[in-house]
Amino acid sequence: MYVMGVESSCDETSVAIVKDGKTVLANVVLSQIDIHKEYGGVVPEIASREHVKGISLVFDQSIKKAGIQYKDIDLVAVTEGPGLIGSLLVGVAAAKVVAMNYDIPIIGIHHIAGHIYANNIEHDLVFPCLALVVSGGHTELILMDKHYQFKKIGETVDDAVGEAYDKVARVLDLPYPGGPMVDKLAQQGKDLYHFPRPLFDSKDYQFSFSGLKSHVINLHHNLSQRHEVFELADFCASFQEAVTDVLVKKTKAAAKEYQVKQIIVAGGVAANKGLRGKISREITDIPVCFPSLGYCTDNAAMIAVAGFFKYKTGNKADDYTINGNSRLEL
Ligand code: KG4
Ligand code: ZN
Repeated sequence: MYVMGVESSCDETSVAIVKDGKTVLANVVLSQIDIHKEYGGVVPEIASREHVKGISLVFDQSIKKAGIQYKDIDLVAVTEGPGLIGSLLVGVAAAKVVAMNYDIPIIGIHHIAGHIYANNIEHDLVFPCLALVVSGGHTELILMDKHYQFKKIGETVDDAVGEAYDKVARVLDLPYPGGPMVDKLAQQGKDLYHFPRPLFDSKDYQFSFSGLKSHVINLHHNLSQRHEVFELADFCASFQEAVTDVLVKKTKAAAKEYQVKQIIVAGGVAANKGLRGKISREITDIPVCFPSLGYCTDNAAMIAVAGFFKYKTGNKADDYTINGNSRLEL
């Protein structure tokens, strides 16, 4: 079964062809990072326009790379939400054109289901499975008892982890997207500042990163005002240690409480070296999986894989009234 995945929820225009929910024949990703860098973050209006400019080419490149024809596609899976509404609409409209033109069923996918299913490309999900979802817009712990069934057991009460990384990076004058830069510098620094670990001792699976982010930003501001010399790398390392301590502690506790057989890490922040290292070192009795780096950040292969499993588990295809939904719930 050939599934075409389409992803355009933020600043990556991507189309993929995946065979049988596993074999990635093509995963073309057109990134807008260089354009948004200039503004220090994603500008929604520019993002939508760039998607419009690039999407036809990305569709055709993907088909060409996969060595198939449009008529060979069995299912079109498209990110329906959440995300930037203008960006989502471009991908959904283009996916509908392909589906209508070639009479192919179309299925809407939640972006986070896509991130979770990125883990099924190089591994197989084993149930019950616990997903630590860490992206620019989400920080959640999700329990899965079987394919395409998601139960949220905890989430952030304020900022998402990726968002906190990007905001801290901005104050430190690091280029957008800040997460990878903070991660890189953190490898060279030490946890000198021992920032607070928010909700570390709470017995639930809620997270909070807004206070930590403000703490880091305020300290940086104070030190700069007093012209004190400090290493950016130590700031980054201290922030990263605080964030990853909380993420790993709660993931470990949830895995134990729910007796899961596998832990998967999903979303852009799953690329974080500090998190990958700490979770693997601290959780040794349950297998922990991450997607390889190219499948951590936004891509359409993960949407195609999620589409395959959504369809295979008996979910009906959508009709052509499917539309972008910026606040879609998982
Ligand atoms: O999943 P993603 O590509 O987009 C969303 O769905 O939000 O995640 C993007 C986020 C950004 O906040 C980016 O800074 C962060 O993931 N990110 C990282 C790393 N690589 C990407 N954060 C920390 N360390 C990284 N290595
Ligand atoms: Zn994402």
